[in-house]
Amino acid sequence: MSTSFLNPRHPWQGRRVVLGVTGSIAAYKAVALARLLTSLGAEVDAVLTHGASRFVSPLSFEGVTGRSSSTELFSVENSALHISLGLEADVVCVAPATADFISRASLGRANDLLTTTLLATRAPVVICPAMNTNMYTHPQTQTNLKHLIDHLSYRVAGPGVGALAYGENHGLGRMLAPEEIIEEVGKALVGPSLLTNKKVLVTAGPTEESIDPVRFVSNRSSGRMGFAIAQAAYRLGASVRLISGPVALPDPYGIELVKVHTAQEMLVSVSDYRPKADVSVFAAAVSDYRPKNIESRKMKRSKGNEAPVLDLMANPDVVLDTLGNRKEKSINVGFALETESILENAQEKLERKQFDFLVANSATETDAGFDVETNRVALLFAGGRCEELPLMTKHDVSEVILSHILELLENRL
Ligand code: CTP
Repeated sequence: MSTSFLNPRHPWQGRRVVLGVTGSIAAYKAVALARLLTSLGAEVDAVLTHGASRFVSPLSFEGVTGRSSSTELFSVENSALHISLGLEADVVCVAPATADFISRASLGRANDLLTTTLLATRAPVVICPAMNTNMYTHPQTQTNLKHLIDHLSYRVAGPGVGALAYGENHGLGRMLAPEEIIEEVGKALVGPSLLTNKKVLVTAGPTEESIDPVRFVSNRSSGRMGFAIAQAAYRLGASVRLISGPVALPDPYGIELVKVHTAQEMLVSVSDYRPKADVSVFAAAVSDYRPKNIESRKMKRSKGNEAPVLDLMANPDVVLDTLGNRKEKSINVGFALETESILENAQEKLERKQFDFLVANSATETDAGFDVETNRVALLFAGGRCEELPLMTKHDVSEVILSHILELLENRL
């Protein structure tokens, strides 16, 4: 058994992010974004336009990043700041990006510190628009954005639909949430990979099998592991379809989410996509059994207090039932949660379900497995190799799993 393992890839760790902030009320959310990026290990240099500094102070950014933030192009202390910021940036993210900023950027204007930095950099640029719906849908704004995408290869993230400023209730033009923007920044930092434009299928969460209109049979899967894998695959450039049972997690960013309840519904969705998927990761905890009959009315407690007996029947095995439909040369990864003889049971599943590798974990540990943020897993590979990983966050485990998928893809091409 090997204890050496691929270190998790952190797209943000130690990377230089120039965070451009322009004059929109959404600028307050840029402070949370700066904080989040910093907590992920990025070195964040905030560059505010004068408009932005009317909404938030450069000091707010310094407070959360621990680095100086700047507004002035013509500064006696550092007259070439735009050059050094531009050259040292691994990515430039402008959030929020106003209509005026987008217009100036598309013209190649260089009339403030942010636009000069944009001209001075060759790093990828992510733009996160925030404005009123009419301003965003105005043909001039759309032309400007198209120019940034088509001619300058800028990535435009959002806007989303939601509550807008100035008493407008709901509409298109809301800046994406910091948790979503970090994924686009992460993807820009990762750059092209062997997964770019590849189709990835991930199953996640539990399934729920109805007993009656208010009760069901299920398990304690939170879906976190599968969601983390789907998000890591997105950052690597994949087109991801995540098929998930009911979970209490926010919808992941940039991923096609198919919500299902039962094992049978999961089978239908997986059957549709597995033939096209270059990579399939089966992280769902599918209920092996379901009640034979679903009562149409809520089952009442019996007068005599006798406990009802549930008559169960076998559910389909999603992996086995779609095995014959998998794409040629595709990579298939399974999970196994065990309470005893972990490696022996996992080895049997690896072979029976024909996985390239299987992620095995124990259901009896309090800091790993179901319903916690961390996991301690062993990876079993077809061919007999076994790699035990230390306790890690599910985010880190997902990065290691993706690193192995990339390695397998490289050998299979
Ligand atoms: N799986 C599946 N459909 C099922 C059961 C399992 O797709 N009905 C998948 C899981 O997503 C996982 C792998 O098969 O990737 C192993 O799941 P697990 O529940 O550990 O295995 P089972 O074959 O159900 O074995 P057992 O419950 O007896 O341990």
